[in-house]
Amino acid sequence: MDTSDLTPLFDAEGKFIWSTLDYNGHKIYPFPNIKNKLDSYMKSFPILDDDIYLLTYSKSGTHWLFEIMMMLTRGSADYWKEKNGHSMLEFWFDPKAKQNGGQRVMMTHLQLGVMPPDILNNSSGKFIQIHRNPADLAASFYNHFTNITDLAGHLTHDWSSFITEIFCDRDKMNHPTWWDYTSEWWIEFIDKPNYLPVFYEELKENPLKVIGEIAEFLKVGADNKLIEEIADQVSFDRMSKEKKKHENLKFFSKGFSFYRKGVVGDWKTHFTKEQHEQFMKHHNQELRNIPELHQRFIKYLQP
Ligand code: A3P
Repeated sequence: MDTSDLTPLFDAEGKFIWSTLDYNGHKIYPFPNIKNKLDSYMKSFPILDDDIYLLTYSKSGTHWLFEIMMMLTRGSADYWKEKNGHSMLEFWFDPKAKQNGGQRVMMTHLQLGVMPPDILNNSSGKFIQIHRNPADLAASFYNHFTNITDLAGHLTHDWSSFITEIFCDRDKMNHPTWWDYTSEWWIEFIDKPNYLPVFYEELKENPLKVIGEIAEFLKVGADNKLIEEIADQVSFDRMSKEKKKHENLKFFSKGFSFYRKGVVGDWKTHFTKEQHEQFMKHHNQELRNIPELHQRFIKYLQP
């Protein structure tokens, strides 16, 4: 990418945070080649009736749910062997590729405003979105971006500055804040019959139930045996052990893994009492108009 396309973002003291990319007035994460890809998708994106889209904010459990969806759509609890980046719309995805025996499962971190209109209008396609409480997500996100080696996205700020000055501030984030991203999709999609919201915490607490609901939504006809096998394979211990053998970590520092802890409540090892209070004020304010979404996270955000 031409680095002149990037806009550097600075903190209140003038220290560089990271860069962002402007795409028709929207801030997006500067993945290599993302602008060209979006330009071509915006003109036309060749959709198929049975396309499946996985929508996620980074660090919500993208790889976890993707694995489940690939297992369900193939009717097999074997791990998906291809690189996940090949299924990411804004990264390596080739719209001509049929990666799953004809049925395509695509994932994306893109916000609603930059989604190709052909995809948004695909009323026979299915949209699944994974939501994770923003405090755990912030802890996971901090670990990710302090370990990324791509200079446009590498974060050098300490946790305190990150959580009090950057993560909640739409002017300092290099793509939408979690609240902007989540609210926008929720308001537009929650009433659509082809949209299924999945919650990280519920998937963790009751994998059989949630995987069963996903199977039902996708109409893949999975029986209990397959659902049990999938739940077993995608448990954090089992899946992380297997996936760590083949991770593509070209853009990350040594020792990083997408499979870090995989727990609910890890935020408590990061936040101070004051940081948590400030965070909750912001959270309550941002979700004040979407009580049903706010309600879903309450018990996971209690100190
Ligand atoms: P932590 O950093 O909190 O451990 P993404 O795939 O969107 O980048 O999300 C990564 C987060 O999902 C990481 O969270 C990772 O550990 C967690 N994760 C990945 N696989 C998981 C699994 N099988 N069960 C539970 N959490 C998982």
